[in-house]
Amino acid sequence: MSADVLDMEELTKIVFGHAAFQYLNAGSELGLFDLLNKTPHLTSDELGKKLDLEDRAIDTLLLGTTSLKLTLRDDEGRYRNAGAVEQLFTDGKWDIIQAVIGFEAHIVYEGQADFVESLRTDTNVGLRRIPGTAGDLYRRLNDNPFLQRVFYTYMRSWSELANPLLIEKVDFNSVTTVLDAGGGDGVNAIDLARAYPHLKITVLEIEDTVPIARKRVADNGLEDRIDVRPGDIFEPYPSGYDCVLFSHQFVIWTDQENIQLLKNAHAALKPGGRVVVFNSISDDSGDGPLMAALDSVYFTSLPAQGGMIYPWKSYVSWLAEAGFTETELIPCRAWTPHGIAMGTKRAE
Ligand SMILES: C[S@@+](CC[C@H](N)C(=O)[O-])C[C@H]1O[C@@H](n2cnc3c(N)ncnc32)[C@H](O)[C@@H]1O
Repeated sequence: MSADVLDMEELTKIVFGHAAFQYLNAGSELGLFDLLNKTPHLTSDELGKKLDLEDRAIDTLLLGTTSLKLTLRDDEGRYRNAGAVEQLFTDGKWDIIQAVIGFEAHIVYEGQADFVESLRTDTNVGLRRIPGTAGDLYRRLNDNPFLQRVFYTYMRSWSELANPLLIEKVDFNSVTTVLDAGGGDGVNAIDLARAYPHLKITVLEIEDTVPIARKRVADNGLEDRIDVRPGDIFEPYPSGYDCVLFSHQFVIWTDQENIQLLKNAHAALKPGGRVVVFNSISDDSGDGPLMAALDSVYFTSLPAQGGMIYPWKSYVSWLAEAGFTETELIPCRAWTPHGIAMGTKRAE
C-alpha cells in the first residue's frame, strides 16, 4: 500500500517544480556550478562579477539554488556546491548531468506543456513544439541542427552513464554478431565493441542519423567491427544475428509497436539467439520509481505517438507474444531506473 506522506513542503516542490528546474538549468548554463567547483567559498558579489550578472540576478539565482540545496551558504556569506554536485565533478559525471539538463531545457520542457492534451488524446501533441512535419521527433531533428546536437549529446551521455550496467549484467561472450536496432550515434555499439573485442555489430538507424553514427565509429577506429546501415526498425531486419539489442527504444513506442519490434528481432535471430532490451522500466506495483514516473511525461508528450516507462510485466507479455522463450529480467538498481529484459529464440 502507498504511504500517505505528502506535506505542504512536498506539495510546494511539485507546484513549483518547473521553477526548481529553471534554477538548476540557470546554474548550469550560466556556469555557477562550474565556477564553484573551481573556486569555492565566493561571496555573492564575487560570484556576480565573475558570472557577469547584475546584483538582483545573482541574488535571485543564489536564493533559488541555495533554497533547493544545490548550493550551500556559510555564516560569512560564502557559497559552495552541495556535496552531491561536487561528487559528480569528482566522478567525472558533471558533463553527463549537464547534457541531461540541456536536453530537458531545450527539447523536453516545451513539449511537456502539452502533457494534458497528450493524455486526453492519447497521442504526442507536444511534437508540435519541434519545427518540422515528420511524424516523430527523431525525423525532425535533421531540420533542427541545434536540437539534433543537444539530443545526441544527451543520448550519448545517458547511454554512457548506463552502458556499464549492460556490460556488467549481460554476458556477450557467447554472442558473435549483434544487431543494434535504433542504435543512435553508435554509443552502445562502441562501448560493447570495446568491452568485447570479438563482437561484430551492425547499427540500424534512420538515414539522417547514419552519418552521425559513422563518424563516431570512425573516430573510435572501429569501422572494421561496427557497420552502420540505414534502415527502419519497423521493417524486416537483415537476418543471421545471434543477438538483437534495443537500447532506450521500448520507452518510445506503443505496446503494439513494441511487439512488432520483438517479432522483427525474432525473425532476424538465429535459433538459440537472444534479444536484449535495455532501458528504464517501472515497478509492476505502479508507484515508482519516481524517475520512471517523471520521465514518462516526456514519452507521453513528445517523441512518438505513445510511449512510457513501462512496467516489467509488459516486457514479459510482449516477449511471449513475439515467440520468445526463457525470459530473463534483470533490474539494475542504479540512479536511473534501468533494467534489462531478455528473451531467447527456441533452438531448433
Ligand atoms: C532514444 S534514441 C536511442 C539511441 C541509442 N539506442 C541509445 O541507447 O543511445 C532512439 C533512436 O532510435 C532511432 N529511431 C527512431 N525511429 C527509428 C526507425 N523507425 N528506424 C530506425 N531507427 C529509428 C532514432 O533515430 C534514435 O537515434
